[in-house]
Amino acid sequence: MSTTVATGASVEAIQHHYDLSNDFYALWLDPSMTYSSALWYGDESLSSAQRNKLDWHLDRVQIDTAERLLDVGCGWGSLLHRATERNPRCHGVGLSLSAAQLAAIAEHHWPRIETRLESWADHEADAPYDGIVSIGAFEHFARLDQSPREKLEGYRAFFVFCHRVSKPRGPLSLQTITYETADREQFSRFFAERIFPESDLPHLHEIAQAAHGLFEIVELRNDRAHYARTLRHWLSALRAHKDEAIALVGERAYIDYERYLGLMVVAFHTGTMNLCRLALRRLDPPGVLA
Ligand SMILES: C[S@@+](CC[C@H](N)C(=O)[O-])C[C@H]1O[C@@H](n2cnc3c(N)ncnc32)[C@H](O)[C@@H]1O
Repeated sequence: MSTTVATGASVEAIQHHYDLSNDFYALWLDPSMTYSSALWYGDESLSSAQRNKLDWHLDRVQIDTAERLLDVGCGWGSLLHRATERNPRCHGVGLSLSAAQLAAIAEHHWPRIETRLESWADHEADAPYDGIVSIGAFEHFARLDQSPREKLEGYRAFFVFCHRVSKPRGPLSLQTITYETADREQFSRFFAERIFPESDLPHLHEIAQAAHGLFEIVELRNDRAHYARTLRHWLSALRAHKDEAIALVGERAYIDYERYLGLMVVAFHTGTMNLCRLALRRLDPPGVLA
């Protein structure tokens, strides 16, 4: 890594969550294995709402003309797959710290998709990207034990990275959970210890501050009700597959995940957390750096 700035959860912490069992996640995610808030336009299935979300971000990076796309935190590959389906000339590069996710992607043999078990902080681009998307990964770019200043420096390093690997005025589409009426002092120890170790959420103002002078925000949606609805689907699917889930990951993990999904429904319902979708554009020349 070219910087001494701490940039979030370690590989071990990420794998604690995402390498639990692909078969377990398949029991309650939609068939595309998209693990982030969907985008609901009406009375539709979870799969359809997940596709809406992928398309929303792909539209923001002008996928129809993009030939090189970077997905930071590519999960099980649904965005990359959708991108290359929509634009057969597009080459997608996905980064993840989860070996299990990348093994699952490799089994598909999807053409024009390349993945790397690597943090964005270590990624060297072969050539600039036409667009960058990052969905549900920013939540791991800071740690609870960091000072507010260290946290901001880590976020800043992410936007410096995105600026470096994108083209002039290039688009960046970001989706992340943010603190709203709660903050890190109220962050549940249960999440920190059992579900998402070494991870802390951003406030919206921290994202804006970290991007200042590098990217301008061109669009912002607050969709917390969409995440509550997504989580209700996941929770009922998990409960419907209780016995299979326990057989795969054990009773303790099942209870943890049921509790985690239920707590998240309440958090998004009450507004202690928000779900932000941000479309940004690289500033050229960069503005005055704070
Ligand atoms: C909640 S999943 C979201 C996956 C996918 N974007 C989706 O919406 O289905 C978070 C992803 O971020 C990845 N991640 C976390 N920290 C990362 C980092 N520093 N660099 C690259 N990927 C990271 C994880 O490995 C995982 O793939």
